[in-house]
Amino acid sequence: MTIEEKLLDLKLRRDKAREGGGEKRIEKQHAKGKYTARERIDKLLDPGSFEEFDMFVEHECEDFGIGETHFPGDGVVTGYGTIDGRKIFIFSHDFTVFGGSLSKTFARKVLKVMDMAAKVGAPVIGLNDSGGARIQEGIESLAGYGDIFMKNVMYSGVVPQISAIMGPCAGGAVYSPAITDFVLMVRDTSYMFVTGPKVVKTVTNEDVTTEELGGASVHNTKSGISHFSCDNEDELLETIRELIGFIPQNNMELSPKMPTNDPIERECFMLNGLIPDNPNKPYDVLDLIREIVDDGNFLEVQRLWATNIVVGFGRFGGRSVGIIANQPRYLAGVLDINASTKGARFIRFCDAFNIPLVTLEDVPGFLPGTVQEHGGIIRHGAKLLFAYAEATVPKITVILRKAYGGAYDVMSSRISPAISITRSPRRKSPLWGRKARSGSYLEKRLPGRKIPARGR
Ligand code: HXC
Repeated sequence: MTIEEKLLDLKLRRDKAREGGGEKRIEKQHAKGKYTARERIDKLLDPGSFEEFDMFVEHECEDFGIGETHFPGDGVVTGYGTIDGRKIFIFSHDFTVFGGSLSKTFARKVLKVMDMAAKVGAPVIGLNDSGGARIQEGIESLAGYGDIFMKNVMYSGVVPQISAIMGPCAGGAVYSPAITDFVLMVRDTSYMFVTGPKVVKTVTNEDVTTEELGGASVHNTKSGISHFSCDNEDELLETIRELIGFIPQNNMELSPKMPTNDPIERECFMLNGLIPDNPNKPYDVLDLIREIVDDGNFLEVQRLWATNIVVGFGRFGGRSVGIIANQPRYLAGVLDINASTKGARFIRFCDAFNIPLVTLEDVPGFLPGTVQEHGGIIRHGAKLLFAYAEATVPKITVILRKAYGGAYDVMSSRISPAISITRSPRRKSPLWGRKARSGSYLEKRLPGRKIPARGR
C-alpha cells in the first residue's frame, strides 16, 4: 500500500469506529433524549481537544455467537482532553455497541485512562450508559469490574473522580460510581439500582417502576447517592464543567484561581437584616452564602438531600472554598444522620484536595428521638466529628447565631484547630437551648435558680 492508500484506509477505519453501533441504534439513542458517547465528549470538552485511545480494539470473546460481531472500540470511547484548558481523562460508554456492556477489552480501556490520569495527575470523568456486565463474557466481565473498583479506591483522594449516570447503571456496576467523588444523574433517562424491578417483584412482591426504584429523583432526594440532579444531558455536562472549575487537578495542587471583580474587602450590609434575633426564627442560609462568596456564585452539592445542612463550593478572592452551613429553613438546621454523613463526605473530599473549609454554624443540636438513636446517630455523627478533626486544610468557623450542645463541638467550633469567629451580640453557645433547659437536669436540681446561657 502507498502512503496515500494507508491514510485513506486509516480514515475509513476511523469513520467506521465513529459510527459505533450504526445509524439505527444511534437513532434509537436520540429518540430516548440521549446523546451518543462521542456527542457527549464533544459537548463536554473544549472544542477539538479530545485525543482518543484504543479506537480500534475489539473484544476477544468467541462464546454464545458473539465472535461474529465486532465493533471497533468495543463499546467505550476513552481518551483525554481539556475543560477550560485543564487536562482531564475520560471514558464514555457507547450504548449503541452491545448496550455499552463491559467486556474484558472494555475494562482494559477504562483502566488505562484511570492509570494515566493518576500518573499525570488529572481528574477522571466517567460517562456511564451501560447494560452492565457483558453477558456473553461472564466471569471475565466481573473480573473487569473488580479491577475498576480497585483502581477507584486506589486513586480516591489522589485525583478527583466524577461519574455521570446517563442511562442504565445496574447490578454491581453501580459501585464504581458510588466510590467516586461526585455522581450526577439526568432526570427520567438515568437510573441506578443493585437489583431491577423484576427481581424486586420476585423477591419481595413489590411493584415498582425503574424510575421509582432508582431514578434521579430517588437518588437525589432519598438515598443521597447522587450529588446533582439535572433536567437533561446538556445541563449535566455543563455542571461537570462548572464543578471542574472549583477543584484542583490532584491532591498535590490547589484549585485554580479564577479572575473576579468582586472585591475581597466588600462589606455585606445585607447580612444585618438577614438573621432574625429570635433564635427560633428561620431564614435561608443560602441567601447569606450567595451574599458573601465571589459574584454570588455558589455550586451547591447534594442540594435536594439532607436539606438541613448545605454543602458546596464558592470562592473568596478567586480561590475555592468548601462551605458547610446549617440550614435553619429545614428542620431548624438540626444535625441528623443524613446531614452528618453528607457533611462528613464533603469535608473529606475538600481535605483530600486542599480546599479550605468555611463553616457557617447556626445549629440547635442533634435531632432527638428513637428513629435517630436506633438509626445510629452516634455512629454517623461521629463521621462528621472525625472528618472535621482529621482535616488539615485551613478551617474557619463562623457562629452565625446559635451553637447548642454537642453540635457546637461537632461543627468545627472547638474540636480541631479551626479559627472560630463568633458573631456578636447574637451568638449563643449554651449546653442546651432555653426550652430544653427548662425541663433539664439542672433546673430540677436547682429550683428557682436562673441558669445563664454560657457562651464561649
Ligand atoms: C450484552 C447487552 C447487554 C449486556 C444490553 N445488551 N445489555 N449485550 N450484555 N449486559 C445489548 C442488547 O442485546 C441489545 O443489542 C442492545 O444492547 C440494546 O439493548 P436493549 O435491550 O435493546 O435496550 P433497552 O430496551 O434500552 O434496555 C436496556 C437494558 C436491557 C435495560 C440495559 O438491555 C437489559 O436489561 N440488559 C441486560 C442487563 C443485565 O442483566 N446486565 C447484567 C447485570 S449484572 P442489539 O444488538 O439488539 O442492539 C452486572 C454485574 C456487574 O452488571 C457486577 C460487578 C461486580
